[in-house]
Amino acid sequence: MPNWDVLVTRKIPEEGLEILRAHCLHVEVYNGSRPIPRQKLFSLIKAKEGLFCCLTDIVDEKVMDAGHALKAISNYAVGYDNIDVAAATKRGIVVTNTPGVLTDAAAELAWSLLFSVARRTVESDRFSRAEKFKGWDPLGFLGFDVHGKTLGVVGAGRIGTAFALKSKGFDMKILYYDSLKNQVLEDSLDAKKVKLNTLLKESDFISVHVPLTDKTYHLFSVEEFQMMKPTAIFINTSRGQVVDEKALVRALKSNSIAGAGLDVYEKEPEIEPQLIRLNNTVLCPHIGSATIETRKKMAIMASSNLIAALSNKKPVNVVNPRPTGRKYR
Ligand code: GLV
Ligand code: GLV
Repeated sequence: MPNWDVLVTRKIPEEGLEILRAHCLHVEVYNGSRPIPRQKLFSLIKAKEGLFCCLTDIVDEKVMDAGHALKAISNYAVGYDNIDVAAATKRGIVVTNTPGVLTDAAAELAWSLLFSVARRTVESDRFSRAEKFKGWDPLGFLGFDVHGKTLGVVGAGRIGTAFALKSKGFDMKILYYDSLKNQVLEDSLDAKKVKLNTLLKESDFISVHVPLTDKTYHLFSVEEFQMMKPTAIFINTSRGQVVDEKALVRALKSNSIAGAGLDVYEKEPEIEPQLIRLNNTVLCPHIGSATIETRKKMAIMASSNLIAALSNKKPVNVVNPRPTGRKYR
């Protein structure tokens, strides 16, 4: 067996650890109930060839320099904005992620948020638990219909596409914003590719599925929320920094939009206190991929990616195909 030493920054499903243990001499798992503190990461990464990390771990040059033996970084997430990929490439370190296996789970969470906000299920659950239900009310908890409405999908990649496809049965008009034409959506849903402004003005539900990049940082700010309908519901399950949270709070407070369902936050894990005080928000703690089935698949995929990269085989889910000086077998 190769004598690799790898660090796993958090407890993960056993199926992933089994793969790592079968291939590595030493698998060190940081067992904290919170993300690994940075200083701890600096000390544990020393002499490790492989890093299995989470989206909560900032893996920058400092971490890579502390991990002087590092050959591969496997992110337990599809988004990899937590990793300085350019710095890894420069150092010949392979970076991998977990696309595909979490696509449907993430799309389902977006639908769950959409329905929760539209039909006020979380708010009315709080009401029931407070023992305030005194009888059926003709005007109680009126929400919005979902069927027959216009759905705006911002970012029609894997997750955005799966999210849109799940609208089948709700008879919706689909608009999407992406740099690329999405033939699947156009063929199966008669979806229309539109400019962002058009999508914002015409959609009843707007769901965001873009990765966080320099281009998508604060894609949604004051002007974008102002363009939306006063009845619009905004859903974000992508990355918090895609949204200017202060602008979102202002839009929600002034009723310039009707509600928001969020799984991600600008200063995660901090949630803007004003979002918490509002009744027209549903706030999840970044659980897009959090199903038993999906997390198991992610653990297997991320561990297999790490082993492939350490074995000098090109991992299927490589983010930087040509790290400096690396030659795959
Ligand atoms: C979750 O947010 C992920 O990127 O997998
Ligand atoms: C991420 O998996 C995406 O392409 O939507």
